[in-house]
Amino acid sequence: MRIALSGYGKMGKAIEQEAIKKGHDIVLKIDSKNRKSLNINDLKNKNIDVIIDFSRPESAVENIKMGIDADIPVVCGTTGWLKKMDEIKSYTQSQNGTFLYASNFSIGVNLFFTLNKTLAKMMNAHPEYKPYLEEIHHTQKLDAPSGTGITLAKDLIQHYDHKSNWVKGEATESNDLAIISKRIDKVPGTHEIEWKSDIDTISIKHTAHSRKGFVMGALLAAEWVQGKKGVFGMADVLEME
Ligand SMILES: NC(=O)c1ccc[n+]([C@@H]2O[C@H](COP(=O)([O-])OP(=O)(O)OC[C@H]3O[C@@H](n4cnc5c(N)ncnc54)[C@H](O)[C@@H]3O)[C@@H](O)[C@H]2O)c1
Repeated sequence: MRIALSGYGKMGKAIEQEAIKKGHDIVLKIDSKNRKSLNINDLKNKNIDVIIDFSRPESAVENIKMGIDADIPVVCGTTGWLKKMDEIKSYTQSQNGTFLYASNFSIGVNLFFTLNKTLAKMMNAHPEYKPYLEEIHHTQKLDAPSGTGITLAKDLIQHYDHKSNWVKGEATESNDLAIISKRIDKVPGTHEIEWKSDIDTISIKHTAHSRKGFVMGALLAAEWVQGKKGVFGMADVLEME
C-alpha cells in the first residue's frame, strides 16, 4: 500500500517502521509543520491508498475530512475528539467515503472489549458487585480518560442495568461509573475493570507491553479497509461483536 501518515510522533514513527517491514511505502508524512501548507490536490497527486491518522485531539477532525474530500480511506486512532464522531460518520456517508476508527487497535484490547461486555451482562444478576474502571498511561498523554477507557465504560453501561453514565474521577451517584485515570512515566496503556463486593473482588485487566499491538492492528485495519466504503471499527476487521 501507499500510505500517508497523518501525525508523525510516537505512533506515526512506530507505524512507519512496521509498514516498511511489511513491504508498504510511506509516501507522505504530515505533522504540525507541513499540515497547513497541504491541500487536497497534494494528496490526490500521490496515489495514496490510505491515510493513517495518529495526530492530536484538536487536529483529527480536519485531517479526517481532508482525507474523505480527497477520496482516500482514513484509518484513525487519534483519541480525545469523540464528541464529533456523529459529525464524521455523517460526513463520511454523505461523501461516500471510507472511515475506520478504533479507540484501541490492539487485538488483545479488542478481545478484552468482548470480555468486558460478557462480564457486565453476567453481573446484572449480582448487583452486590460494584464496577470500577482504572486506566494508566504515560505522562505525555493529552486526554483523560483514555479513549479505550471510555469505550470500556460505554460498553459496560450498555450491557449492565445498574449504571447509566460514566464520570471522570470518583462517582457520587450510585448509577455513575467511575473512571480513574493515572499518569505514570513510560506506561504504554493499562486498563482494569474491578467488580467489588463486600466478600471478594473479580477483576479483568489488559496491560500493553509496548506500542506494537496498536501499530500492527492499525496496519491490519488499513489493509482490510481497501476497496470498502462506509464507517467501520476494529470489530469489523476482527469479525467480533
Ligand atoms: N487508537 C489507538 O490504538 C492508539 C494507540 C496509541 C495512541 N493513540 C492516540 O494517537 C494519538 C497520537 O499519539 P502519539 O503518542 O503518536 O502522539 P505524539 O504527540 O507523539 O504525536 C502526535 C503527532 O501529531 C502531529 N500533529 C500535530 N498537529 C497536527 C496536524 N494538524 N496534522 C497532522 N499531524 C499533526 C505532531 O507533530 C506529532 O508528530 C493520541 O491521540 C493518542 O491518544 C491511539
